Amino acid sequence: MNLSGKVALITGASSGIGEGVAKALALKGVKLGLAARRTDKLQLVLTEIQKQGGEACIIEMDVTDKESVTEGVAKLLNQFGSIDILVNNAGIMPVSDIDTFKIDEWEKMVDVNIKGVLNVTSSVLPELIKQKSGHIINLSSIAGRKLFKGLSVYCGTKFFVAAFSDIMRMEIGKKHNIRVTSIQPGAVATNLYDQISDAALKEGMENLSNQMTFLSPNDIADSMIYVLEAPNHVDVSELFILPTDQEW
Ligand SMILES: NC(=O)c1ccc[n+]([C@@H]2O[C@H](COP(=O)([O-])OP(=O)(O)OC[C@H]3O[C@@H](n4cnc5c(N)ncnc54)[C@H](OP(=O)(O)O)[C@@H]3O)[C@@H](O)[C@H]2O)c1
Repeated sequence: MNLSGKVALITGASSGIGEGVAKALALKGVKLGLAARRTDKLQLVLTEIQKQGGEACIIEMDVTDKESVTEGVAKLLNQFGSIDILVNNAGIMPVSDIDTFKIDEWEKMVDVNIKGVLNVTSSVLPELIKQKSGHIINLSSIAGRKLFKGLSVYCGTKFFVAAFSDIMRMEIGKKHNIRVTSIQPGAVATNLYDQISDAALKEGMENLSNQMTFLSPNDIADSMIYVLEAPNHVDVSELFILPTDQEW
């Protein structure tokens, strides 16, 4: 499928995977809504995209806030007239052991990684149903198919994303001609681990980069382009992508 001229909303476009995917899709001629809370970071991404001849707009959005999401989707529709692709990428990972009772962090993960996906999907899906076409890509994780000590709530949120994606695919694929993909990366070099407040777990995560060559956001972008460019009758429903030397 030719992506040129399609319109995509990417949440969490201010850094890491979202930023990488935004830049790669812009080079394919996709018009982008760059959504996140940090508009200064989004501005840097926008400037780079525009320098390369791409088209995008900044959308200040907190995915946990339904009103902010509704306004952001309206802004994108106003700017580009339609929406074809949604990348539910915004996510956080402040992991900790259960018996440290970091309840605020558990709730934040549920709010961003689960409710955020529901908020954005429920705002965008009616548009895709109306036009009887579209593609929703959700960022799950290796933590959405394997269990890791210390990652209980995070794993729960990413298992949710994988389950939600596949059931959504069953319900809207044939009925509304909308493709759904869950992407489950292993370790990717981003700032995701910065928010870990548990010192030992943070160190453990940071040390992973001594044990393997992390994927780059660009590797994820390449796989996403493969998924999006597949002919319309092909839905890559799950993509599990790991560093070659990530054994577990
Ligand atoms: N890095 C990995 O190893 C890895 C592996 C598997 C899956 N993933 C998943 O990949 C996705 C992207 O993560 P990343 O690694 O690229 O981390 P990252 O660089 O920390 O990016 C996270 C993005 O989420 C956005 N975000 C966080 N809370 C938000 C909110 N309330 N509203 C809107 N946007 C919000 C952030 O933007 P603002 O702060 O500007 O709002 C940021 O752009 C996540 O879902 C993560 O779980 C990552």
